[in-house]
Amino acid sequence: MVIISPSLLSCDFAKMGEEVKRMEDAGAQWMHIDVMDGHFVPNITIGAPVVKSLKKEMNSVADVHLMISDPLKYAEDFAKAGADFITFHVESDSDPVETINKIRELGCKPSISIKPKTPAETIFPYLEMVDMVLVMTVEPGFGGQSFMADMMPKVKTIREECERRGLHDMYIEVDGGIDTNTISVAAEAGANAFVSGSAIFKAPDAKVIISELKEKASV
Ligand code: DX5
Ligand code: ZN
Repeated sequence: MVIISPSLLSCDFAKMGEEVKRMEDAGAQWMHIDVMDGHFVPNITIGAPVVKSLKKEMNSVADVHLMISDPLKYAEDFAKAGADFITFHVESDSDPVETINKIRELGCKPSISIKPKTPAETIFPYLEMVDMVLVMTVEPGFGGQSFMADMMPKVKTIREECERRGLHDMYIEVDGGIDTNTISVAAEAGANAFVSGSAIFKAPDAKVIISELKEKASV
C-alpha cells in the first residue's frame, strides 16, 4: 500500500489541528512531524507538547521524524505524546541499538534514517530491528528543497537487501522534494511511504494532489 505522509512543517502553524483534519479528509494516512533541535540541523521546530496536543485530534498515524542530536534522551517524551513511528538518524549521537530498543519498549515503531551523504550499508546492521528506513532525499533542516534523484540507488539497495533477508513488510520512506513528478522514480526504486510538504500544502486542493501522488506511486 502507498502511504502519503504530509509534512506538517509546511502547514500554517497557527492552524495545525485544522490542517491535520484537512489532510486526513484528503486521504493522508500518516502525518509527518519534523522535530528539529537547532543542533543536529540548523533549524528549530516543534517538541513533544505540540505532538501531544495534535495527537488528541488525530485519526492518522503520527510519523515523528527526530532530527535531533540525542534521540535516546527524548524518545520517551515523544512516545508519551502519542508518536506511532519514531524515526531517528543513524548520524545522531545516540547508540542505534539502544535507541531502537528504547523506542520498541515504549510501544512505538522504530525507524532509522540516513542523510544524503550516508551510505545505505550504514543501516544494514539494524534492518531486522526496525519497521521503517527513512532515506532523506534532501539535506535535513528545511522544507521546500529540490529532490535528490541520486539517492534512488540507495533506496534500491535497501529494498533489495530487505527482500534478500525476507523483510517483505519493511516501510521505506523518502523525505524531501516529493511531488507528482518525483514520486514515481522513488516508488520505482522501492519506496512505499512518501513524505511531502510544500507540494501538498501549496496545492489548491489537497484531495486532488494526494490522489495524484498515490496514483503515481502505484507501481
Ligand atoms: C526536511 C524535513 C522534511 C520536509 C519535507 O528536513 O525532514 O520532512 O518538511 O518538505 P518538502 O516536501 O517541502 O521537501
Ligand atoms: Zn521529515
